[in-house]
Amino acid sequence: MKKIFISPSILSADFARLEQECKSLEKCGADWIHCDVMDGNFVPNITFGMPIVRSIRRCVVLPLDVHLMINEPERYVKQFAEAGADIITFHLEATKNVSETLRLIHACGKKAGISVKPNTPIGAITPYRGLFDLVLIMSVEPGFGGQEFIPSAVEKIRRAKELFPNVLVEVDGGINPETSKSVIDAGADVLVAGSAIMSVPDRQAAINKICHR
Ligand code: DX5
Ligand code: ZN
Repeated sequence: MKKIFISPSILSADFARLEQECKSLEKCGADWIHCDVMDGNFVPNITFGMPIVRSIRRCVVLPLDVHLMINEPERYVKQFAEAGADIITFHLEATKNVSETLRLIHACGKKAGISVKPNTPIGAITPYRGLFDLVLIMSVEPGFGGQEFIPSAVEKIRRAKELFPNVLVEVDGGINPETSKSVIDAGADVLVAGSAIMSVPDRQAAINKICHR
């Protein structure tokens, strides 16, 4: 069986103890750390930017999976790359310059991800085939942790694997040990989970349950 990667989201972390939180995830079996960057514009919430990514970079060796929920992400790609992001994912809906943004991420030496919101069909990213390394399928409306999984994401994952067999398919939103089963069966490679990991005392057990390890 293929290895399922887990990318815990620090959105639900205790930001006053961010170093311990990230180190605890590293110890508990996280493969990547998912950093949700929100601008209060593309989504109705504001989180953090480059300085926090730079601080996390100093605490852990795990790859940093930076999910940009910001308008015109091309304005900030270079700065997130310099801050220590390893994978930079932005939203198809957030820019008119999709190809340019993907090329810019690669020019910075980083892996490029493209994300679609629940109502955007997966076919909308086909014109950019060959320019991205990862597709991030949102299984909630982006903006907040702790929302309920939208089941139509399962079919979208299956379709994404068919259309782009050589890229990683990541899923984000409402992932827990129950919902993860169907997304793993549909072919997802990387699972993002925030509240299901951060809000329980035994994070290692939560990660193992979510990944069905
Ligand atoms: C939502 C974020 C997610 C969020 C997931 O917009 O992109 O990464 O942290 O949180 P849960 O797992 O609680 O749905
Ligand atoms: Zn995210």
